[in-house]
Amino acid sequence: MPGPLLRSLSGENLDSRPVWLMRQAGRYLPEYRALRAAKGGFLELVYDAEAAAEITLQPIRRFGFDGAILFSDILIVPYAMGQNLEFLAGEGPRLSPRLVDAQLSALRAVPERLTPIYDTVRRVRSQLSGDKTLLGFAGSPWTIATYMVAGEGSRDQHDTRAYAYRDPVAFQAIIDAIVDVTVEYLAGQVEAGAEGLQLFDSWAGSLSPAQFERWVIEPNARIAAAIRKRYRHVPLIGFPKGAGEKLVAYAQGTKVDAIGIDETIDPLWAAKNLPANLPVQGNLDPLLLLAGGVELERQTFRILEAFADRPHVFNLGHGIGQFTPIEHVEHLLTVVRGWRRGQSR
Ligand code: CP3
Repeated sequence: MPGPLLRSLSGENLDSRPVWLMRQAGRYLPEYRALRAAKGGFLELVYDAEAAAEITLQPIRRFGFDGAILFSDILIVPYAMGQNLEFLAGEGPRLSPRLVDAQLSALRAVPERLTPIYDTVRRVRSQLSGDKTLLGFAGSPWTIATYMVAGEGSRDQHDTRAYAYRDPVAFQAIIDAIVDVTVEYLAGQVEAGAEGLQLFDSWAGSLSPAQFERWVIEPNARIAAAIRKRYRHVPLIGFPKGAGEKLVAYAQGTKVDAIGIDETIDPLWAAKNLPANLPVQGNLDPLLLLAGGVELERQTFRILEAFADRPHVFNLGHGIGQFTPIEHVEHLLTVVRGWRRGQSR
């Protein structure tokens, strides 16, 4: 029998809610920091399949989450497309050459940069019990393109939005190339043992409705269709962070199997406006988990109750912060695990 996370993502409205947290493997865990210090850099960890598998499993051992998410990064895709990738301490990722300065055709693909990741997936699956779901992931084309064009993260994706207006033909070619690699990359993860997939669109919020349609909905719809065609039973979660009311068009247009919602969305609005029975994942504010206290409990119940009439996976609205106290995570899990659908408190 598949575990509760996979059942929820596949459309079952269970009486208690499966839970995992975005960025659950990471710097808030002392066991992560220890292994990170021993191995040196972040990319060194990602490319050491044994270490990456261990890090993927650390939060499962400590908290018993219902899902494990592959330890890797969304920027492995541009790296495999031929850009150089570095993670600078305190500054974040850098890709070069930036596509504001270089043509896409100047990049030489390095597909071997994807294969070690599949090794991590295989190792994790072989060590994970059957009731835990292994999630693979990739970045969505728009978010990946913002890093490829600007060479780094940016507050409002200024360079990439301007590029897309200035030269939509060249930008479409970048998006199409990312779609192709992403489909192969997700398929590789499924072949290696991933049972569900998530598309992270961290910068979906900066686009106008017309740009959102073209650069977010359309490419993600192509990815969803390609994955569904190959792997009918592998659910795909779309997470267009910052999409706001455009979540409705995203859900209808992409036909993802489940939708992740960030903390800016009122759960009652989402429950009312998203397609009936579509599984929802989210949406506790990561800062509320950092802060803890009665408000954390209150909002957790509010989210659980709001989604009682559809499948729901409890999660944050974005990644867990590195200064989050472990006890707050434990407290959250006690609250979520104590809740039952249709039981008044
Ligand atoms: O969720 C998980 O635990 C799985 C692993 C995972 C990481 N990054 C590990 C990571 C996932 C799913 C991601 C996604 C990711 N990476 C996104 C989309 C989600 C989001 O957070 O918006 C983005 C935009 C990136 C790009 C990226 N990677 C940035 C901007 C940074 C530097 C900022 C930061 O938080 O340090 C990273 C590095 C990174 N990716 C770390 C981890 C655990 C920190 C590495 C370290 O210093 O130890």
